Amino acid sequence: MSAHSSNQIGPDRDAELQTVAATFGTPAYVYFTDVLAARLARLKAAFAGRFDISYAVKSNPNPALLGWMRDRLETLDISSGGELSLAQRAGWPPERISFTGPAKRESELRAAISAGIGELVLESLREARLANQIALAIGKVQPVLLRLGPDRVPKGFGDQMAGRPSPFGIDIEAAPEVIPETLSLPGLRVIGLHIYSGTQSLKADAICENWRGFITIFREICARYDLTPERLIFGAGLGIPYHPGDQELDLEAIAEVINPDLDALKTDPRFGETRLALELGRYLTGPAGVFLTQVLATKHSRGRDIALCDGGLNANLAATGNFGMVLRRNYILRRVGGDDAGSRPIGPVDIAGPLCTSIDRLGTGVELPRLDEGDLVVIQNCGAYGPSASPINFISHPWPNEVLVTETGMQDANWLGQQPER
Ligand SMILES: Cc1ncc(COP(=O)(O)O)c(C=O)c1O
Repeated sequence: MSAHSSNQIGPDRDAELQTVAATFGTPAYVYFTDVLAARLARLKAAFAGRFDISYAVKSNPNPALLGWMRDRLETLDISSGGELSLAQRAGWPPERISFTGPAKRESELRAAISAGIGELVLESLREARLANQIALAIGKVQPVLLRLGPDRVPKGFGDQMAGRPSPFGIDIEAAPEVIPETLSLPGLRVIGLHIYSGTQSLKADAICENWRGFITIFREICARYDLTPERLIFGAGLGIPYHPGDQELDLEAIAEVINPDLDALKTDPRFGETRLALELGRYLTGPAGVFLTQVLATKHSRGRDIALCDGGLNANLAATGNFGMVLRRNYILRRVGGDDAGSRPIGPVDIAGPLCTSIDRLGTGVELPRLDEGDLVVIQNCGAYGPSASPINFISHPWPNEVLVTETGMQDANWLGQQPER
């Protein structure tokens, strides 16, 4: 690992960002594997082997990243047939892949079961029946997990997938209608349970309370249906500090609270051999990636300085606040190169993208050194829900580049032009 093993891509990396812009062009997403490695190591160390790590491909399906992860973490969670192709393209063996998603198509189920994926995560009785038919037709017994939706989710999550009417998983109240029949299906083997009920939490208390709730449900359901699970999935919900003033999660504090509960669970003979996994995406990839855009033009309009950049909402929907954010807040932005040793006055600037819509705004009133045409602006915490979660075809601007920075150099990680089979 290089000297840059921090959790953020700070100004100490501006020279590398300048090289990326000169070599690959902008707009660009730049992913730093040393930051990924540091975050993975921190996760592993905090829970001291109690959890496997399962990476949610939806957060960033870039094949170069998936390839980097292949020998460094345990499993991948896909959510579509397209993600299955991407995982396979990156060399992931099917037995280390799980498949979650609320509305799986028959063709996707067939592809996943035929490929021999390790775990199909069932979210309904419809899916259980369909998967059973497919498995029987191809002469397999498919290992499955049941995704359960708790009836409450603690306050403190950016988005919640349970605790209210929800398309995701089997409501815990509906377990008696779903679990006994699923257990009786000969083409399926129930090997464990899965809960993912909330995402983007920066509150350690809420995360601990949520995971404790999972433990209670896992114990209760396994006792009720006499299950000895091989795997239990904890949908992590670990958030990242997107905005100025947000506090980074204290992972070690979470571990200190929850590790004894995990140990207690493992002393129960029913769970002695069970492997526990944390399913997460943004915690790993978010801070390891930045979005780099170049100022194409500047404007002074009715008292405001505005910088117009070559990538905006089309390339980075999330940073414009249009990807599930209730109140638009600036991400953490800076001018690459800072204030040029004090030669640039600092003042508020609005950062706009190239689109003909007023929602194409990457920053409002951001205090930055004066921006000129040709300057580079970098946005932190953009390694998750980036290009694949953005309307990259809107107004037909160039797609953002993707670049992977490893200890051996910088590599072109573009893949958007080679879309997977779906
Ligand atoms: C089932 C499931 N797993 C994993 C994730 C990844 O979440 P995050 O990127 O917040 O870690 C999500 C996010 O919505 C999800 O719904």
